[in-house]
Amino acid sequence: MKFLSNKATCNLHGQDSSYFLGWEEYEKNPYDETRNPKGIIQMGLAENQLSFDLLESWLAQNPDAAGFKTNGESIFRELALFQDYHGLPAFKDALVQFMSEIRGNKVSFDSNKLVLTAGATSANETLMFCLADTGDAFLLPTPYYPGFDRDLKWRTGAEIVPIQCTSSNGFRITESALEEAYELAKRRNLRVKGVLVTNPSNPLATTLSKQELELLLTFIATKRIHLISDEIYSGTVFNSPKFVSVMEVLIENNYMYTDIWDRVHIVYSLSKDLGLPGFRVGAIYSNDDMVVSAATKMSSFGLISSQTQYLLFIMLSDKKLTKHYLSENQKRLKQRHEMLVRGLKKIGISCLDSNAGLFCWVDMRHLLSSNTFDGEMELWKKIVYEVGLNISPGSSCHCTEPGWFRACFANMSEATLYIAIQRLKAFVDSNATNNNIQNHQPLNNTSSKKKSFSKLVFRLSFNERQRER
Ligand SMILES: Cc1ncc(COP(=O)(O)O)c(C=O)c1O
Repeated sequence: MKFLSNKATCNLHGQDSSYFLGWEEYEKNPYDETRNPKGIIQMGLAENQLSFDLLESWLAQNPDAAGFKTNGESIFRELALFQDYHGLPAFKDALVQFMSEIRGNKVSFDSNKLVLTAGATSANETLMFCLADTGDAFLLPTPYYPGFDRDLKWRTGAEIVPIQCTSSNGFRITESALEEAYELAKRRNLRVKGVLVTNPSNPLATTLSKQELELLLTFIATKRIHLISDEIYSGTVFNSPKFVSVMEVLIENNYMYTDIWDRVHIVYSLSKDLGLPGFRVGAIYSNDDMVVSAATKMSSFGLISSQTQYLLFIMLSDKKLTKHYLSENQKRLKQRHEMLVRGLKKIGISCLDSNAGLFCWVDMRHLLSSNTFDGEMELWKKIVYEVGLNISPGSSCHCTEPGWFRACFANMSEATLYIAIQRLKAFVDSNATNNNIQNHQPLNNTSSKKKSFSKLVFRLSFNERQRER
């Protein structure tokens, strides 16, 4: 007898993807500067730990916010009882203002069109429930965030059809790629309900251009489908070109007076911009009243706790804090990004030009033993087990070209990032030496080579740390 449901036992969660397997390997052997200096460095987690100090010092100066008090009076009981699934109105106002601030106040958002959710994960799934039936499809440009297989498909039964983007034009979205994806869905007998993009992109760390956004709007107008823009990284844009939200393009092109206006939905969250993934704060913004109403009812399954809403209402209402945080955080992200890009460049590894996010899209095609996804897996395993870095292989993001990897830089200290780059350097150098040796003499014992490389990595890590002190 079968005890569990198909949903519970099917493989659609994606737990077996190398994206999650890499995390598991890291958990078994996590790097620690003193306790486990040979451990795996986690570069597969898009977490922002660079600006915690700003929030912590604000919390120290504003003890009422986390202490459930207003003007010194306890509001514990009110918060403990509050359970309106529409959310705390004051928090929703503060959140839409923060979203406007990130967009340079070029657009304003109406808190009545905002639905609060437990993170962007829940926002994306809820939108799928609102817009698609089982077997309906959304088109997604590749490479895309590996979590979408779980978030969009698993419980909803919706399907993802890839829009194939390639390195030939920096993975930009083209009209022909959109049309091909649409045709592919039709051939698979899937009804296309919309396109979902991440802007800025995870994993590319680039922003969509105005032209791409206009192309997307024309496409959804012609096909009479929806557009979801996941703007979870909107506050991380640290270089030009500046971030352009789909909302700006809608307004500039006077789409407010057309039915397109109702078919564009934004997903947002404080997991990346404020570095608070543990607080589970996300939102859907839609101009369609029916979507807002349905999503609000569904949000009962993933609400944000009232004390979190209260704390963040006070925090985001402090305009001095938000202004300083956004600019300082972007400055720090830019420095980190430059450190990784420069460090990799010195060892002959390039990254896709990018201006946002918490990671780089790294080109290691020249390090593959064969230009195949098997070759990519082989290299990925070496990087995880021998080099000791958990990065995400492009195949886990459905990239169509082998040899690309996503490497995160904001979830660790500068010293750890330095060590990660040194480990890669040792790997690249030993690869080059081995290739030379192999070119001149027959293959010798690979395990002794592996051992000497591991020793080299450890020696380098240790020496570099000593030098840094
Ligand atoms: C593009 C994108 N959307 C959604 C999520 C999920 O975010 P949250 O922690 O808010 O659920 C992530 C997390 O990495 C992401 O990169």
